[in-house]
Amino acid sequence: MTPVGPAVRAPSMGLIMNLEALLSARLAPALAEVARAAVDPAVRRSRHADFQSGAVLSLAGRLGRPPRDVAQEVAARSDLDGLARIEVSGPGFLNLTLADEPIAAAVNDLAADARLGVPPAGRPETLVVDYSSPNIAKELTVGHLRSTVIGDSLARTLAWLGHDVVRANHVGDWGTAFGMLIEHLLDHGASGAPRLGDLTGFYRAARARFDADEEFRNRSRLRVVRLQAGDEETLRLWRGYVAESRRYLLAAYERLGVTLTEAHFAGESTYQDALPDVVAELAGKGLLTESDGALCAFPAGFTGRDGEPLPLIVRKSDGGFGYAATDLAALRHRVRELGATRLLYVVGAPQRTHFRMVYAVAAAAGWLPEGVTAEHVAFGSILGADGKMFRTRSGDSVKLADVLDEAIARASALGAGPEAAQAVGVGAVKYADLAGDRRNDYVFDWDRMLALTGDTGPYLQYAYARIRSLLDRATDAPGPVVPCHPAERALALELLAFAPVVHSVGETLEPHRLAGYLHGLASSFSGFYQNCPVLRAPDDVRASRLALCALTGRTLRQGLDLLGIAAPAAL
Ligand code: ARG
Repeated sequence: MTPVGPAVRAPSMGLIMNLEALLSARLAPALAEVARAAVDPAVRRSRHADFQSGAVLSLAGRLGRPPRDVAQEVAARSDLDGLARIEVSGPGFLNLTLADEPIAAAVNDLAADARLGVPPAGRPETLVVDYSSPNIAKELTVGHLRSTVIGDSLARTLAWLGHDVVRANHVGDWGTAFGMLIEHLLDHGASGAPRLGDLTGFYRAARARFDADEEFRNRSRLRVVRLQAGDEETLRLWRGYVAESRRYLLAAYERLGVTLTEAHFAGESTYQDALPDVVAELAGKGLLTESDGALCAFPAGFTGRDGEPLPLIVRKSDGGFGYAATDLAALRHRVRELGATRLLYVVGAPQRTHFRMVYAVAAAAGWLPEGVTAEHVAFGSILGADGKMFRTRSGDSVKLADVLDEAIARASALGAGPEAAQAVGVGAVKYADLAGDRRNDYVFDWDRMLALTGDTGPYLQYAYARIRSLLDRATDAPGPVVPCHPAERALALELLAFAPVVHSVGETLEPHRLAGYLHGLASSFSGFYQNCPVLRAPDDVRASRLALCALTGRTLRQGLDLLGIAAPAAL
């Protein structure tokens, strides 16, 4: 490939690449004079101008003056010489149109920056991202897709922003179901370990026996007791089962292009030894109440439908521990032992109350001190075309493996070669999951997610491959960017918006902001490419356009990588 830019260097502190910040800094004095107080200029990218400030709208109310008058005064007083033109529009917006020189300077600075304008965090935090976290007795279904894909994108983004990210796969690898699974395993001989890929079948068979056969049920219950008591033989069988599940999960992650590895398993079983102490500490702080033999916390502000206080069951009446106890132990461990200051739990919206209660109890126990936060990164469901939960025709959960098989088959039908088909098929599924606000449900739609135009993974991958092939055909090196054509100017501005978008994903934990940005970038690129010949342009113009192409390619690739989507050089 042709070299794609001037020698890459560390980001300069001198030239501000963030044009929003630059415009805000220049607008702030005029606003302060008019308001006689500091005012946030609230400069944002806008469809109506390059940037827009709506600061006057709220300010005018406070001053009791017509907004347009205030806006005129701010515009007259502001000194934006050499940077931008300012105009009052609508009810009192300030429209800002940049001069070409600052755009050129900023985009050239960007092109020389290996990190595309995103300096590593000044104060790195230790974050735990709890994601994927399936119950290991069954195969992954499409229901596990969202946590796995959204969590992985957030882990990648936060790590790239320079934070210390601990990935935690809080798999359900402990509990009463393992009694019946081990008994079923024993009945199938020592070699009867569930085969990879048929965990679900094995689980169903065990479950059917448990429901139908009293003798099997009793044996299963006894087995649970032995498991919890640490009986060596039982633990050995349990470990074999868990190991098989882990192998299966790791193969699935690999296929999905998800960064979870063996090192990230931190299943519920990990915390079993800590549970008695968790109970002791909570009891010592007066946070537990006995209720029907169970030990419960009643965090303030949580009531059930009947208006009664809602319990968080920490120890069950039979002495066993459940989901809540394990989460409390995991939280304490993450803060105390791992030193995390930000805990993320990428789990579906239905567990909202569970997490709010766990956080409330943890806070009361002093496990979430000042400066440490726990956030439930909730998401909606995947729906079928009928608007109900996405299921197979027979009403079963859809296996993730089947979804990926079909996605890859459909990608090869589009003409992608074997390796590319894997990237395009998997990328289409992941992008469809990441492109909408995660809080919303979305409809699983094969045709839409695999469309080559529109807001899709394949559209972005093809845009990237097209740029790579163009750069491969270039015989000379990119040079400084001098935007002349409006489409070049628009593309340059779009490229400069990458850094603020990545930062906003780190703060809001909303990968769809990045997805939407990349789609806008690819569209700007296509507008540029239609209007501005690259290889056939005169020498200096060609050098500038090649630089824009190279920078767009790098930005698309980095952005797709943060989403966890492969960007093959050729499709
Ligand atoms: N295994 C749980 C389930 O399938 C999800 C675990 C989420 N993480 C957590 N720390 N509770 O519902």
